[in-house]
Amino acid sequence: MKAVEVKKDIYWVGTIDWNVRNFHGYLTQQGTTYNAYLIIDEKITLVDTAKADFSDELISRISEIIDPSKIDYIIANHVEMDHSGSLDKILELSPNAEIITCAKGEKGIKRHHKKDWKFKVINSGDSLSLGKHSLQFITTPMVHWPDNMVAYMPEEKILFSNDSFGQHYASTERFDDECELDIVMNEAKKYYANIVMPYDKPTQNELAAVSKLDIEMVLPSHGIIWRKHLDIILAAYNDWAFSKNKKKVAIVYDTMWKSTEKMAKVVYNAFENKGFQIKFINLQHRHISDILTDVLDSSHIAVGSPTLNKNIMPSVAAFLTYLSGLSAGGKKAVIFGSYGWGDKSIPQLTKYMEEAKYDIIYSSKIQFIPDEEELTQLQQELEAVI
Ligand code: FEO
Repeated sequence: MKAVEVKKDIYWVGTIDWNVRNFHGYLTQQGTTYNAYLIIDEKITLVDTAKADFSDELISRISEIIDPSKIDYIIANHVEMDHSGSLDKILELSPNAEIITCAKGEKGIKRHHKKDWKFKVINSGDSLSLGKHSLQFITTPMVHWPDNMVAYMPEEKILFSNDSFGQHYASTERFDDECELDIVMNEAKKYYANIVMPYDKPTQNELAAVSKLDIEMVLPSHGIIWRKHLDIILAAYNDWAFSKNKKKVAIVYDTMWKSTEKMAKVVYNAFENKGFQIKFINLQHRHISDILTDVLDSSHIAVGSPTLNKNIMPSVAAFLTYLSGLSAGGKKAVIFGSYGWGDKSIPQLTKYMEEAKYDIIYSSKIQFIPDEEELTQLQQELEAVI
């Protein structure tokens, strides 16, 4: 496991987490990486660190290039512990290193690590000379925490983008042109849906700032480095941040005795007749973080649950809790469900959709088992509003 020279005197010294499958609720079926970068110059500079469990791996890669005690600057682009977790061990080895971060970064690192380290606090637009190279900082609050920032190196046209443009994707390859692009882009989309989606306006601001830079490489803190397909990832971020949705519906449901499933199939028929791309998802068979990937670029979402014990089904509640936390709003919603002797699902589905800031265009409830007449009515009414 070696360090990789990205450009002359700039090295990837990150770590590879092959086995992580749960990243605060996000199913990371491809593992991930915690990327850190070492710049060899008059001021030896480390850009970001790694999760604490991976400190030894990080230090081992740095040590291939230089004695870690020689590090002068540590750029902390983001406080979250997958990037700052190894600060303690790195700073044990290089106690005189200065942490370069924004004011919210300094505050966040002090709250997480409780250490009396040396900080140099930067403002957005500030530049720092490393010798032959320099770094210009742009704060990008809420992409994805208040402390996020990115660093641009004009001499090499490199953007150290931290969470932005990342993917949870473990690989021995480091560059986009060495991997299967479809797989990497799907992971980038899933990453956006599960990490960045609520912050569309801050992401739009970041894209506007980045568009003014002359960039040849984007070095994120997760996954592969972008050097060949920059246009593709930037265009995708533009589509996602500006909610350029497809004519597409994600139909998401659970069912007890297949009544709600019968309704879901009729919802499918209605959208099919109207020419929509459809994702048909029984919550028993798909992880909620994968469903979010399909929701991201859908114009519509249809959610169905029967009433169960004065409630919706727990699987649907878990999905909607996750969805409403990540929602950027602005989609059209359809809700439906069967019930026995008291309809409780439609009011609850309504509450969740309102929290997600979705516009409910149609709802349907049917008692016990739907008959043909009721299903025909559902389909006709739904087709009339989509
Ligand atoms: Fe990869 Fe927001 O941390």
